Amino acid sequence: MERLWFSLLLLAAACRGQPCPKRCMCQSLSPSLAILCSKTGLLFVPAAIDRRTVELRLQENFITGNIPDFANMTSLLHLTLSRNTISQILPSAFSDLRRLRALHLDSNRLTVIKDDHFKGLTNLRHLILANNQLHSISPHAFDDFLSTLEDLDLSYNNLAQVPWDTIGRLTNVNTLNMDHNLIENVPQGVFTNLHKLARLDMTSNKIPVYAKSRGSPLSSLVLSFGGNPLHCNCELLWLRRLTREDDLETCASPPDLSAKYFWTIPEEEFICDPPVLTRKSPHTTAMEGQPASLKCKANGDPEPEVHWISPEGRLISNSSRTLVFPNGSLEINVTSLKDSGNFTCIASNAAGESTGRVELVVTAMPHLANSTSRSRDPSSEPAPSDILTSSKVALPNNETRGLLSYVVMLSWQQVRKTS
Ligand SMILES: *[C@@H]1O[C@H](CO)[C@@H](O)[C@H](O)[C@H]1NC(C)=O
Ligand SMILES: *[C@@H]1O[C@H](CO)[C@@H](O)[C@H](O)[C@H]1NC(C)=O
Ligand SMILES: *[C@@H]1O[C@H](CO)[C@@H](O)[C@H](O)[C@H]1NC(C)=O
Ligand SMILES: *[C@@H]1O[C@H](CO)[C@@H](O)[C@H](O)[C@H]1NC(C)=O
Ligand SMILES: *[C@@H]1O[C@H](CO)[C@@H](O)[C@H](O)[C@H]1NC(C)=O
Ligand SMILES: *[C@@H]1O[C@H](CO)[C@@H](O)[C@H](O)[C@H]1NC(C)=O
Ligand SMILES: *[C@@H]1O[C@H](CO)[C@@H](O)[C@H](O)[C@H]1NC(C)=O
Repeated sequence: MERLWFSLLLLAAACRGQPCPKRCMCQSLSPSLAILCSKTGLLFVPAAIDRRTVELRLQENFITGNIPDFANMTSLLHLTLSRNTISQILPSAFSDLRRLRALHLDSNRLTVIKDDHFKGLTNLRHLILANNQLHSISPHAFDDFLSTLEDLDLSYNNLAQVPWDTIGRLTNVNTLNMDHNLIENVPQGVFTNLHKLARLDMTSNKIPVYAKSRGSPLSSLVLSFGGNPLHCNCELLWLRRLTREDDLETCASPPDLSAKYFWTIPEEEFICDPPVLTRKSPHTTAMEGQPASLKCKANGDPEPEVHWISPEGRLISNSSRTLVFPNGSLEINVTSLKDSGNFTCIASNAAGESTGRVELVVTAMPHLANSTSRSRDPSSEPAPSDILTSSKVALPNNETRGLLSYVVMLSWQQVRKTS
């Protein structure tokens, strides 16, 4: 016991300038300084920390609430705050840590990362945020280290949305851990510029494994899909053709392939069904100014996407007056006479498409007709509808082609470079 105290005193003495914070150990490995305060029951970050410290370990304490600023700690290279109860980061808390290379914030209670939380970390290489309760990361949160970050760990959080544009600009990243979240899709081409990416873990999310476009940079990566449900239809043929027999993956669906080993199923059993319209609105009438709802339902494998084309041949998107739902419903909030006409719904998937027509007739409200000075003569030519506020002009044919050639992006879980 005495010997231990003696060595602690020696260590403390070695720490020039600021005395060593209570209960911590300070190592002066000339010229650098490490302050080790793990498992010391700390409730706050000690105030009296030597500003020249190079390494600061504060893991397994009870530090809560706001992380105070680490002002003037411009020499700090490594900061560990793992396993505390931190729920909030002050804006620019780390802004003086210009040289920081590794920041460990795993196993805390963070729920959001905002744009200013990591400001100033211009040399960050490793950012570990695993095991928090993150549900939101602002798009500019990583701006100061987009080109330096090598390792990003976001696993074991509650992320359904990921700022993919930001991820796609982490040009130096080689390891991305996003497993055990609630992620539902990975946009196409997001990893195109991540030439150093060697390890991507997306296991145990909500990503159905559908398809991947040919020539994706990921074709040079080896993958395994542990955890996510494999839907074995025609969109997975490309994967089946990779002929790897080392994985023991089974299909989750469709029913006739469920529980069969992926690599043993013959290619011809990976089938898609083109869309079949099962239900659509009949001829619909609405009173001017009232809402109208047009429905179009299609079955198919994979699940068809439904798009609506206005009577003028334009793709209808969400706007102040219209809502297009994934289930195929088109809602017009407030109809106008100009909306009358034939609407076309296009259901499409990898196997084909199917179209339906729904005629909408908007009738003038009698009192409205009277109260307005404009002519409401029904025989007059209706002006084009303004239903399409989106600037995207798409002729039905072009749009259809676009839909058909659109291939849903893959959804890998675990990926390693083959070479
Ligand atoms: C940081 O440095 C500035 C300027 O030298 C000084 O005014 C300030 O008190 C320092 N803050 C801390 C926490 O050391
Ligand atoms: C629907 O109309 C109401 C009232 O005019 C408006 O407040 C609302 O924003 C509209 N919503 C959509 C989605 O069009
Ligand atoms: C339109 O908005 C609705 C409700 O906000 C949403 O469910 C739907 O996915 C949106 N449609 C498109 C095509 O973005
Ligand atoms: C589609 O979804 C919308 C919004 O959730 C709902 O209002 C509408 O009734 C649904 N349509 C069908 C046909 O289920
Ligand atoms: C909608 O299509 C039907 C059938 O082709 C046609 O009889 C009708 O005139 C069309 N309606 C409009 C407003 O063009
Ligand atoms: C329209 O309103 C005016 C008075 O505001 C009334 O004299 C006229 O009869 C109305 N016309 C119709 C068609 O209701
Ligand atoms: C779309 O259609 C128009 C007219 O049919 C044609 O001029 C144009 O080249 C097409 N664009 C594409 C991308 O197919």
